[in-house]
Amino acid sequence: MSKLSGKVCFITGGANGIGKATVELFAKEGGIVYFADADFSAGERLVSELKKQNLRVTFLPCDVSIHLQCNEAVVTTIQAEGRIDVLFNHAGVIVAKAFLDYTLEEWEWLFDNNAKSVFMITRAVLPHMLEHGKGVIINTSSSSVKAVTSFESVYGASKGAMHQLCRAIAVEFRDAGIRCNLIVPSFVRTKHAYEELEQLRSHGVFASENDITLMQGRICEPEEVATVALFLATDDSSFINGAEIMVDNTFTAI
Ligand SMILES: NC(=O)c1ccc[n+]([C@@H]2O[C@H](COP(=O)([O-])OP(=O)(O)OC[C@H]3O[C@@H](n4cnc5c(N)ncnc54)[C@H](O)[C@@H]3O)[C@@H](O)[C@H]2O)c1
Repeated sequence: MSKLSGKVCFITGGANGIGKATVELFAKEGGIVYFADADFSAGERLVSELKKQNLRVTFLPCDVSIHLQCNEAVVTTIQAEGRIDVLFNHAGVIVAKAFLDYTLEEWEWLFDNNAKSVFMITRAVLPHMLEHGKGVIINTSSSSVKAVTSFESVYGASKGAMHQLCRAIAVEFRDAGIRCNLIVPSFVRTKHAYEELEQLRSHGVFASENDITLMQGRICEPEEVATVALFLATDDSSFINGAEIMVDNTFTAI
């Protein structure tokens, strides 16, 4: 049995890394997948790859930090399918530097991409879920919200803002049939993590391969986050709501 048979899934940041692994998994599980991403060439490439496998996938070129583009991507999906059953807010960016070196522009860029984007996309999708009396929202947070990493104050603050927003959505809309949960990963093998590690190392933070092994056993693979998103997307997690699911192999337990 396909776990997402006929479910309309909307994923942001789906062209690469964890988002890409989730697009692939959701589509293979029978989902009708729409994914929004600002990386047009990677998005087009993924769609043509998956269409060859007869999977139902649509790429929406979209910068989720821009209000108009968020609305357009959601409207396109609703016009085509009439509903969105599963929303995965995954897109996000990082700048790691000393607190006193962060500029106001970097604060705004991080908050626009990591927090405001989740507000804008969710605000566009949620009324359609409420109309159907059911919906699942999944959001990618970061272990930085739980265990502070040096040189990530503003990145952590932006993820912390979206983290709290999502818990509040879970509480406010629980009785309307909405589940809203957080996936909280530590280091995952993606471009985002490699950029993050390079920036941290340039500040002298312990972030070698060996340090990662000490903190979390090994680096996490994108597919190991996608399977958690799948669990949260289905009724297998029907009583999980407002939860923070650590995907970190003890990173925050140590
Ligand atoms: N990789 C990690 O170690 C790690 C750990 C914790 C949290 N995260 C979170 O995961 C997300 C990054 O994903 P990844 O690790 O798969 O990295 P990635 O760089 O492989 O993929 C990120 C995707 O998001 C897209 N994106 C970024 N900003 C966008 C925007 N404004 N509009 C549309 N698309 C945009 C990129 O084009 C890219 O396709 C972020 O939310 C980050 O906070 C990653």
